[in-house]
Amino acid sequence: MNELESLQQAERGPDGNLFLIGFMGAGKSTVAQALSALYGMEVVEMDEAIERQAGMPISDIFATLGEEAFRQMETRLLTTLEPGQRCVVSCGGGVAMREVNVQAMRRSGSIVWLTATPETILARVAGSDSRPLLEGHKDIGYIQSMMAQRQLKYEAAADVAVATDGKDAAQICSDILAALQARRQEG
Ligand code: S3P
Repeated sequence: MNELESLQQAERGPDGNLFLIGFMGAGKSTVAQALSALYGMEVVEMDEAIERQAGMPISDIFATLGEEAFRQMETRLLTTLEPGQRCVVSCGGGVAMREVNVQAMRRSGSIVWLTATPETILARVAGSDSRPLLEGHKDIGYIQSMMAQRQLKYEAAADVAVATDGKDAAQICSDILAALQARRQEG
């Protein structure tokens, strides 16, 4: 891509669908909204879509149906999702743990891993009680070890990784575009 094409790309935003993956509190929902506002991309918020379909909040799904049922709902949603050409999908933090999910994402777009330190994550999730896996475990040690368990899967799934610590949403969006462009030029 030449310089002019790069500038045009930066103006119009990402070409295809984008899947935002990463740990709880990595900023997926916020960044999805920002990408939508900046580039007119349609947002699919997986947790919200599952809550709508199930008719109950995620914490109730975990409590009454169990985590495995929730994971199946995620896979069903992802594999039946037929995003248009420029959707940004804000994935639940566990989505990249299943290979079938990763394959479904790969078939229809680019996978962007948003990263953050455990300290940043803790600060972002501290005030929320909507994440059953963190209830009663909102401490650095727990977040660190859960992140370590997931790290390799996130890494293997991702086309690009973008750090979010200390950045606002606009900066993260521009870093995502730059990372995707750099990857395209490499390959
Ligand atoms: C989960 C992350 C949550 C939600 C559920 C499980 C996970 O989504 O899907 O509580 O396993 O990491 P967010 O990453 O949007 O918080």
